[in-house]
Amino acid sequence: MMESFNQSRRGVLKASAMIAGTAMVNSFIAQSAHAASGDTIKVGLIGCGGRGTAAAGQALSTDQGPIELVAVADAFEDNARSALGALKAKFKDSPDKVKVTDETIFSGFDAYKRVIDSGIDMVVIATPPGFRPIHFEYAVEKGKNIFAEKPVATDAAGIRRFLAAAIEAKKKNLKVGIGLQRHHQAPYIDTVKRIQDGAIGDLILMRAYWNGTRPWVRQRASLMERKEAAARKAGKPVEPLTEMEYQMRNWYYFNWLCGDHINEQHIHNLDVINWVKNGHPVEAQGVGGKQVDTGIDSGEIYDHHMVEYTYADGTKLLSECRHQQKCWNSVTEYAHGTKGTADISGHRFDLIGGGKWKSDAKGKDPYQQEHDDLQHAIRNDIAYSEAEYGAHSTMTSILGRMATYSGKICRWDDALKNGPSLMPAEFSFDAKPPTVPDENGKYPIPMPGNYVAYAGQK
Ligand SMILES: NC(=O)c1ccc[n+]([C@@H]2O[C@H](COP(=O)([O-])OP(=O)(O)OC[C@H]3O[C@@H](n4cnc5c(N)ncnc54)[C@H](O)[C@@H]3O)[C@@H](O)[C@H]2O)c1
Repeated sequence: MMESFNQSRRGVLKASAMIAGTAMVNSFIAQSAHAASGDTIKVGLIGCGGRGTAAAGQALSTDQGPIELVAVADAFEDNARSALGALKAKFKDSPDKVKVTDETIFSGFDAYKRVIDSGIDMVVIATPPGFRPIHFEYAVEKGKNIFAEKPVATDAAGIRRFLAAAIEAKKKNLKVGIGLQRHHQAPYIDTVKRIQDGAIGDLILMRAYWNGTRPWVRQRASLMERKEAAARKAGKPVEPLTEMEYQMRNWYYFNWLCGDHINEQHIHNLDVINWVKNGHPVEAQGVGGKQVDTGIDSGEIYDHHMVEYTYADGTKLLSECRHQQKCWNSVTEYAHGTKGTADISGHRFDLIGGGKWKSDAKGKDPYQQEHDDLQHAIRNDIAYSEAEYGAHSTMTSILGRMATYSGKICRWDDALKNGPSLMPAEFSFDAKPPTVPDENGKYPIPMPGNYVAYAGQK
């Protein structure tokens, strides 16, 4: 597994290097959704929320050649239409870029299939991450190039499924970008390369933080009001908001959809450390809980986690993520070496003896750069896969969550092999989600000491 991770990392670094004009990269020769440099790339969007709308806009804004959005899908039609409205407004001066019609707006749990089957070359996937393995697998099966947002799953079963599809994607010469955009941010690339080249000596310890405030919450009461108002406006009978509908709208707070905030957001910082280490942890242990964010719409996720990860060479990563108001906030990564300390997110080093370094690398907005790079690879048929390291960084988050929920040491190999699926048995708005509230509207919270993260956990 480590071998394919390293191979894919090299593939991406090589692709980036070629984009920078400094190296040549061998191309895969295989059947593929390869578009010649002047061809129009047809794009579909699955998951039309904030990020999906922005990512589709970035896909349509690359400097790589003609491209158009032809189909969109969302679980909810109102979200699909509002994303489309925003994209039409953004590209009002180049309306040929947004060619979605009423016939190519799809909604519901199967909408992803209809977008993927609508004659596209590339799909942008930005749903909540629980669905990622399902959508990714289908896009690979149908031979599409893919930009998929991070994280790529919420559970170990999803990672297994995603990694299997990633192997197929390589065999089919599909290009896969994952929304871990720091890999496309020039000062990060500069800083990480220098650390890997030994600028701060041998690494002893790493630290990573996503301590911030609570993100959005979509309250049950206001979702019900909105649904009632929409029904009245359309002259339709008012239907109740089902539990599945509520969780799908307020997805951040449910593990099958989100994977907890250690997965949703802290993945960015854990991913940077994996990048520096060119690997992933082999075990984790940690503490966490739900202490402040205990309100009625806060679901089942914890509001803080602190995890000690161990890499194969014995080095440690201390990781913290917290969603609590009025506390110390920091979204950062650090590495401590025998010759000095790297503030990775600040792109600077403090060396023992007083030397200092700060990156002067300049680059584009990484959210744009990642789409430029992916489309460059598609148009020039350059091997390009961020899938394995995206999956390993997601698994790193999941391993941390397993450790804080269970209160036990969690081992990568066992957790990846035996970790269960958190997903529902059935996808429909009337189906029962995997977790349901009690009579007071509260959800069961994972309890350390009792929670079993994976079969055979000691
Ligand atoms: N790379 C980054 O910096 C970054 C930033 C923000 C979000 N993201 C990622 O993007 C993803 C989406 O986040 P967001 O902020 O846009 O959330 P959002 O709630 O704004 O959008 C998600 C959309 O997906 C839709 N959806 C849910 N289930 C679906 C399904 N089965 N099929 C089709 N559509 C479905 C929802 O209805 C919603 O419109 C998350 O994985 C998040 O981590 C990445």
